[in-house]
Amino acid sequence: MPLPKAELHVHIEGTLEPELALALAARNGVELPYADTEELRKAYQFSDLQSFLHLYYELMAGLRTERDFEELADAYLARAAAQGVRHAEIFFDPQAHLARGVEMGTVVEGLWRALGRSEAAHGVSTQLIMCFLRDESAESAMRTLDAAKPYLDRIVGVGLDSAEVGHPPGKFREVYEAAAALGLRRVAHAGEEGPPAYISEALDVLGAERIDHGLSCMKDPALVERLVRERVPLTVCPLSNVRLRAVDILAQHPLPAMLDAGLLCTVNSDDPAYFGGYVDDNFHAVHETLGLSHERLRELARNSFLASFLEHDEERRAR
Ligand code: HPA
Ligand code: ZN
Repeated sequence: MPLPKAELHVHIEGTLEPELALALAARNGVELPYADTEELRKAYQFSDLQSFLHLYYELMAGLRTERDFEELADAYLARAAAQGVRHAEIFFDPQAHLARGVEMGTVVEGLWRALGRSEAAHGVSTQLIMCFLRDESAESAMRTLDAAKPYLDRIVGVGLDSAEVGHPPGKFREVYEAAAALGLRRVAHAGEEGPPAYISEALDVLGAERIDHGLSCMKDPALVERLVRERVPLTVCPLSNVRLRAVDILAQHPLPAMLDAGLLCTVNSDDPAYFGGYVDDNFHAVHETLGLSHERLRELARNSFLASFLEHDEERRAR
């Protein structure tokens, strides 16, 4: 039985399995440059974040209707439930869809069709986090926040993702302030490929309550001390880090050192259809390859509920 856990770092578009990507493209008459799944799978060799993002944005082209987003989310939730997930805080990338002429309402209502019945259907409670693409402008992010205003009852918070290096968080100060004024929670990817200074900036300038990835904090002992002192959760994604070459091999992943330092780490899947495993596969991998004990795994699962945006009574129920 997989440990009950919350998943706090998963991009719904990153759960698009090759079979579904091709099926949706065919259904919607969208051309993709891959004849079949075998040919497509050959494209799953990434040298860094950017090379992954290319395929990630390309395969999304098949997602066009509410039904497509519903099927995508339903498939993820079924898999997550089988991996012990009781609560999922799910990222989505509206700008990547708006740019293709797919409206905010199509994305959010489509996802909601699956999320709204997830507790009954899968035993998984859910929340949605809307991410801004950091390689797009601050104005585009602000327009995206505006477009989301009719759907704020469906969205718990905002995040920041896409190409990190050269795109420090500070550019999004105003949009994060506007999001906070709307009552939205704030998280941000930082320190996946970028320097520790991006992590500090996400905390200080954006008011991020949780850092997605955060790996590069280990280069800055003063920052580690701060993250420990302030109990800032880090959503670590071990298999993602290996596939995107943030670490060379899993055996060299800093997760054990991060836990030893007292950081509030969680383990997550990021883009499981692309990185070779869902969240419990990540738990297995860190157990097998990094030798994390069962007690450590239980700590990681406990941390996932502590770091979630669930209220405390719900957190107790989930455990
Ligand atoms: N990092 C940054 N942006 C992303 C990722 C990621 O791992 N997945 C989807 N968008
Ligand atoms: Zn991510």
